[in-house]
Amino acid sequence: MGDGVLTKVIFFSWFFIQVLLSRNSSLETQIRRETEAAIRHLRSEAGACSCSRNAANECRECLLRGVTERLRDAGYNSAVCNSKWTTSSSIPKAGEHTYIDVVEAADGTKGPVRVVIEVCFRAEFEMARASEEYRRLVYRLPEVFVGKPEKLRGVIKTVCAAAKKCMEDNKMHMAPWRKSKYMQAKWLTPCEREPPRAALSPTEAAFSANRHRKPQASMLTFDLLDKLPGLHWPAVRVL
Ligand SMILES: *[C@@H]1O[C@H](CO)[C@@H](O)[C@H](O)[C@H]1NC(C)=O
Repeated sequence: MGDGVLTKVIFFSWFFIQVLLSRNSSLETQIRRETEAAIRHLRSEAGACSCSRNAANECRECLLRGVTERLRDAGYNSAVCNSKWTTSSSIPKAGEHTYIDVVEAADGTKGPVRVVIEVCFRAEFEMARASEEYRRLVYRLPEVFVGKPEKLRGVIKTVCAAAKKCMEDNKMHMAPWRKSKYMQAKWLTPCEREPPRAALSPTEAAFSANRHRKPQASMLTFDLLDKLPGLHWPAVRVL
């Protein structure tokens, strides 16, 4: 593939991503506003995460909890979500990922609406040995992603297709965790939603400890919690 073709691929990829990202529902817009304010505060000197001093993973961990709490305080059903998947015919490699989602009841007859929040979105696509064109594309991705799963899937597919073209162009092998299906699995496979950590009552603490031993029991446990008295967080179901 000549340079001109690659440049066109990158150009159209960016164009398509912009179209995808420019259409926001009011729920997405509100949640983005709240998320960005929370991150600004958490990252600031006065904030809880001291990201300039902490290691990147500690910072991320802190942002995940902090943003989730702030969204809950603002009335959203947000949770830290743990996804875990195995290798399958479509997903080239097993893995796991932790991020935030919000699940809200929609108006009318539609089911609940899910909004995915990734606090380090751009970093997920960065590659050390990428071509300049790919790097420029990734540079223009939002640092924080807030949006519905369909939008996220579209962006992932587009960026991964561009990555594939770039790698082919440079005759480089694309690692399995760079492939679209793997990237989609991070946020779009079923996830287990964590209950809030703050102010655990003894029942919740026991539940929380138990949960680490039996992660598969999530749906059952959530149903059970629904019926337990004295819990101050709304019961949620894994989608
Ligand atoms: C939708 O959100 C994006 C942020 O991802 C923003 O850049 C864009 O301007 C918004 N679109 C509209 C029409 O407000």
